[in-house]
Order: sequence, then C-alpha cells, then structure tokens
Amino acid sequence: MTDTAGLELISTAVLLMTAGRRIAYANPAAENLFAQSRRQLVGARLGDVLRDAERLTPALDLALTHRASYTEQEIELHLAGKTNGHARLLVNCTATFLDSPHASDPQLIVEFRPIDQQLKIAREAKIAEQNQANRELVRNLAHEIKNPLGGIRGAAQLLEGELSEPQLVEYTQVIIGEADRLQNLVNKLLTPHKLPRYVRTDIHVLLDRVLQLLKNEFGATHTLEADFDVSLPEPELDGEQITQVLLNIARNACQSTAAVSSPEVTLRTRVARQVVLAKRRYRMALEVAVVDNGPGVPLALRDRIFYPLFTTRTDGTGSGLGLSIAQTFVAQHYGVIEVDSEPGHTEFRVILPFDHPAEPPSHADTKAKP
Ligand SMILES: Nc1ncnc2c1ncn2[C@@H]1O[C@H](COP(=O)(O)OP(=O)(O)O)[C@@H](O)[C@H]1O
Ligand SMILES: [Mg+2]
Repeated sequence: MTDTAGLELISTAVLLMTAGRRIAYANPAAENLFAQSRRQLVGARLGDVLRDAERLTPALDLALTHRASYTEQEIELHLAGKTNGHARLLVNCTATFLDSPHASDPQLIVEFRPIDQQLKIAREAKIAEQNQANRELVRNLAHEIKNPLGGIRGAAQLLEGELSEPQLVEYTQVIIGEADRLQNLVNKLLTPHKLPRYVRTDIHVLLDRVLQLLKNEFGATHTLEADFDVSLPEPELDGEQITQVLLNIARNACQSTAAVSSPEVTLRTRVARQVVLAKRRYRMALEVAVVDNGPGVPLALRDRIFYPLFTTRTDGTGSGLGLSIAQTFVAQHYGVIEVDSEPGHTEFRVILPFDHPAEPPSHADTKAKP
C-alpha cells in the first residue's frame, strides 16, 4: 500500500484512487472538505461523494492514460446528499498519475484546493497586515501626543497660580480639562502594552463570567444564551486579555441588537478543525463564537470595523477601540477573529490555538512599550 503518512498533515484535500475509480484513501482535509469520515469515503466512488463527479472525469482519464498530471481550474462541485449552502465547493482539482507497483494499489492522487479558502486566507492576511500598520501608527501618534500634554497641563496650572483676575481661571480650567480628556484617550490607545501570560484555562469559566457581566448590563432586554461544548480541552491563554476580547465582541453584539424586537446573543464554543492561524496549520483549534440576530455589519464596513477609533455609534457610547484591542490581543495569542454577517445573523469567531506556540509572534505589537 502507498505510504500516506505525509498526506495526513497537508492542508489540501487529497484522495488516492484505484484504477477502478474507487477511493482508496482520504486525508483529514478531504474528510473535512467532503464532510464525510474516512470510513465513509474509502471504497466509495467519486459519484457517491459528489453530485457532479463527471466534471472530474476528463482530468482523471488524461492523468491515467498519459501517466501525467492534469488540473481542472475553478470547477464548481456539489456534495451528494446535501442541499444546503454548504454543499457547494469551488475548487481547483489536480489528478496525478501514481506509479504503483501493484495494479490493485492506488493509481491516482486527486487534490482539491478550495478557491474560496485561498482567497480568504490571502484577504485576511492583507487585512491583518493593514490593521497592524494602523495600530502601529496610532500607537506612535499617541506616544507623540502624550509627552507634550503633560507640559501643557503643568504650564496651565502654573499660569493659574499667577493669575490676578479670578475670572481668567475659567480659561486655564478649559486647558487643563481638555488636556485631561486627551490624556485619557491617549492612555486608552496605549493600553495593550502588557505581554500576555499564558495559563491553561477553563474557557467556560471565563465565558460564564462574560455572560454574567452581560446579564447585569443587558439581561432585562436581551436573551443571552450559552451553547458550550464542555468536552473541549483547556486552552493556554491569558485569561484577562481573552475575557476583554470576548466582552468587547459580546458587548458590541448586545449593543447592535438593541433595536431588534427580540434581541438574542449566544456564546458558543466548538473545536475548529484544520485551520490556519498566523500562517501555521492546526489540526484542532478553539473556536469561541459570539452570535447575534442584529442588523449585521454592512459589507462596505467589514474591513474597517477593526480600525482603531472606527465607530458607527452616534450616541456617544462608542470609542471605536473595542475591536482594535480585541484584535491586538488575539494576534498576540496567534489567533484570528473571523466575521460572517448578514441581516439577522452575525457571527464573530475568535479562533485560538489550544497550545501557545513557543516563540513570540513576529508582530511589532507585542513589544512592550511604556
Ligand atoms: N455584532 C455587531 N453587529 C453590527 N455591527 C457591529 C457588531 N460588532 C461591531 N460592529 C461595528 O463595528 C464598529 C466598531 O466596534 P468597536 O471597535 O467595538 O467600537 P465601538 O463599539 O466603540 O463602536 C461598531 O461601531 C459597529 O459599527
Ligand atoms: Mg465596542
């Protein structure tokens, strides 16, 4: 039998097929892509797995007859036996002849590369990079503002002491008050400077605390639900930071649903399989989702909501820092935040490795600044 150990870890879905066009092996990425276990896949025909398997026939035939490699670009396939939205796959498919010693051994390697995933990874990497640059810019700017502010405030106080006309104190008070306000803002922008401390943590204890805080604030108007997979292993994380992350996201969900007739926010935990986080592949990762039934994030704003100071709240309740801080903390954990949103269903998913990778992330954000 062909050695398949190397295929187990790769992120591309791979099937090995016999000359009789039966599946002889499926790697974990293929199980994931076709939403079937290896036991179900092995021995099956492609037609049992895909409704439109015949689209692949030319590539398979060519690979077998020419003992070479053939690719079908951007083909749309549908999973057999599924009719919902998840049944559609857009893939590049490559069939490669495999020179096996025995005729009964697999004769073809068939690789499926989902196109959506390629685009999504590239897109997310680009956004993360932009956000990174933005956060750096804001941090540097905040530093530059912080120092002269102290001088302005001190000088105004000295001036106040020298004033002969008491009614002029009103003006120095304005200077001092506004300097304090700016100082506050600048301090908020500089918050994420502490390096995280990674500790094995029961994520559900932490989520219960978040839920309790939400209930205090929104319990009277909102239905707040927990949908936990209690069999999850304990992740290694900084409890304080991740609490802040989830609270920021969940508070947004509560605020964004305030105007719907029966606002609902659910905190959900699951295992995410075969994910790429900070350019590394993980078989399993922790997924914490915050789901709400609000109006959603308009597509045009999707990239900007993570920018520091970006807010759409016009009632003065928004600082525009919640998601920016959340993203900084999650990046320090080598994780990602994903967003899916349509009116009536918005999901923010925080995906984190269970084990904290040994070396620090390459992001400049993790450099401690005073
Ligand atoms: N669950 C959500 N539904 C709709 N819009 C959201 C949601 N979460 C965040 N947003 C949008 O993202 C923006 C930025 O969020 P955030 O960084 O927390 O700042 P703030 O909450 O102070 O506005 C919000 O103003 C809102 O427009
Ligand atoms: Mg917020």
